[in-house]
Amino acid sequence: MTIDAQILKALRDNNGGVSGADLSGQLGISRAAVWARINDLRSLDYEIEASPHLGYRLISAPDALHADDLISRLGEARVIGRDIRVFRETPSTNDLIGKFARDGVKEGIVVFAESQSKGRGRLGREWISPARKGLWFSILLRPDLRPQEATQLTVVSATALRRAIEGQTGLKVEIKWPNDILIRGKKVAGILTELYAELDRINYVILGVGVNVNLIPLDFPPDLRKIATSLRTELGKGLSRSELAVHILRELEQDYSRLRAGDFSALADEWEQHCTTIGHEITIRSGQRQIGGVAESLGEDGALLLRTEHGHLERIMGGDVSLDD
Ligand code: BTN
Repeated sequence: MTIDAQILKALRDNNGGVSGADLSGQLGISRAAVWARINDLRSLDYEIEASPHLGYRLISAPDALHADDLISRLGEARVIGRDIRVFRETPSTNDLIGKFARDGVKEGIVVFAESQSKGRGRLGREWISPARKGLWFSILLRPDLRPQEATQLTVVSATALRRAIEGQTGLKVEIKWPNDILIRGKKVAGILTELYAELDRINYVILGVGVNVNLIPLDFPPDLRKIATSLRTELGKGLSRSELAVHILRELEQDYSRLRAGDFSALADEWEQHCTTIGHEITIRSGQRQIGGVAESLGEDGALLLRTEHGHLERIMGGDVSLDD
């Protein structure tokens, strides 16, 4: 952890205040250096009070995403978020993570951008990513899975994301196969999984997550306003993006470790419980192909099992779902 991350952690762990002498002792730097770091944090809009009796106290933190702060709040011993970078603007965080992947960086690094100029959604769609209004981030994973099993990652990440958003907002949050996150039928978050694999093994996976946190309806283009929403709109008030980010990364860490421990079936059960697609008549479009039927359940590899109008059970790995009933 950087010095700033350690200072922020100490401030958060000691609500009542922590003395300059204690910080200097814990961090192995002089009291003057502690003072300089505190002033740097203040220039990033952390409100930190200094009093002779109580020492330093964190009064409030800015809404901007700050890698040191996120790292200090996540704590040690984890894969996802072992390294976090925050960029002011980038075309797409998935592309940035791709560069880290090709350089051989270990799995778990997370890249956030305050805004994206070319955010991508599934099926080549654009993903609106206005500055400081949402969480736009990507994670590098190197799972020990076969390429056919990569859909499991989509299921696991949708489950973790759904749970984190519901836990933070208290709103009912649902999943539309494969990985749209919906509130009252409107999309509030999405996941773009990009797979780099050979025939029999995955090299790496880029998990791109977009969450519409504090957008207002006017932030969406008119054609999206009927189908997309934000947490702010649904809650009627804004939400701390960094707090939500920490929750999401924690849930992802927990579920990714369960997946690696071979516990996919419990996660798949949770996914099915919250999936609006299961049990409904749907149409799936994938390229030129269109197929209709009843979404029956989730396969062991994460595929959607669709009972077609001819009674066959088809395994569907991707596509665009619309509900018919
Ligand atoms: C979808 O539902 O279509 C997937 C949306 C994924 C958007 C995120 S935002 C961060 C990452 N970078 C991108 O360009 N896309 C993903």
